[in-house]
Amino acid sequence: MSDLVIHNARVMTCDPARPGLGVIDHGAIALAGEAIRWVGEDAERPRGERELDAGGRLVTPGLVDCHTHAIFAGDRGNEFGMRAAGKSYLEIAKAGGGIAASLGPTRAATDGALIAALIERLDAALAGGTTTIEVKSGYDLTLEGELRLLRCVAAAAAARAQRVVPTLLAHLVPPERAAARDGFVAELCDQLIPRIAKGRLATSVDAYCDEGAFTLAESRAIFTAARAAGLAVRGHAGQFRDLGAAELLGELSGLSADHVEQISEAGVAALARAGTIAVMLPGACVQLRLPVPPVDRLRRAGVAMAVASDLNPGSSYCETLPIQMWLATTHFGMTVEEAWLGVTRHAARALGIAGAGTISPGARGDLILWRCDDPAHVPYRYGAATRLIETLFVAGERLA
Ligand code: NIG
Ligand code: FE
Repeated sequence: MSDLVIHNARVMTCDPARPGLGVIDHGAIALAGEAIRWVGEDAERPRGERELDAGGRLVTPGLVDCHTHAIFAGDRGNEFGMRAAGKSYLEIAKAGGGIAASLGPTRAATDGALIAALIERLDAALAGGTTTIEVKSGYDLTLEGELRLLRCVAAAAAARAQRVVPTLLAHLVPPERAAARDGFVAELCDQLIPRIAKGRLATSVDAYCDEGAFTLAESRAIFTAARAAGLAVRGHAGQFRDLGAAELLGELSGLSADHVEQISEAGVAALARAGTIAVMLPGACVQLRLPVPPVDRLRRAGVAMAVASDLNPGSSYCETLPIQMWLATTHFGMTVEEAWLGVTRHAARALGIAGAGTISPGARGDLILWRCDDPAHVPYRYGAATRLIETLFVAGERLA
């Protein structure tokens, strides 16, 4: 007997064992404790202690946001205004704005303030359907400070039901270390990464390999140290300039290459060969008025694509994945099916969590019952995500 059986549902399983989005038109799901125990045709459903009639509406996996910078203090609304008036992101960064402008407020914030701000953002993400979320460090960039940020991520995660996946981000050489950047990179590789791994404070290491951030050689050193410490690797690759990060991430079997507005044929082929996910970040791309990533080339090469929020105070202050799905479909040329897989199964793969982002036996009971029956309505009605969500389940527990 299952704890809860959801029946009379249009179940979108996203299960790779089924074609496309794996929709079962007249479906049912049985939950037992935290996990999904059974999914199939309504007529064959098992009995449950409790039953929930979905009224023929859509039930999908909980959404997975595989790329956020959700722990920071302060904001950069002034930069938003400057960009709206015609300045570019790189111009603003070179003049002392950008990531460096978030270091001061983040370093000055207390643990309590950082944790409270992160919890607020986790709650906002959950309201838009995000039940698994990656959170990168990267707005302190001192050794002790990055450790502190990841401890704060763990504290916020413990206070919420969502699954939080922490990542150490080598975001920038901080201005005070610019004169001796080799020393900073060595400290990252020899001290910070081993300490992060030992304390289990992150499952992967991300490096921002781009103009004004880390070079390809520095990124290789950071990724190599991460792999040696038993951590997975992922990268900010070619947001502004292609330095060859996609090739490097493919070579090192990276979990994901993110942004990829700029990527060569060799880079696409490397991702395809390695099964590395290309993470689309349309909110940041549109806001910074960057060229669109080569979705069709990625698609034709068989590279799986994810879609994420890039939640951060600079280029994309947005917690809501359905808005990113809308931009992915309207601006990037992704299909509705690709956008959905991008915030479910493919995003889970980008985080290295097998089975997540699907409705399948054994997967965690993270589910959304929507107030619609057509998967297209989620991106199509892009401002309405919170109103479209009827009920959320996280780890088998009904939240609302
Ligand atoms: O993914 N490009 C690097 N990092 C962020 C921006 C961070 C910031 O501007 O604070 C991004 O867009
Ligand atoms: Fe990012």
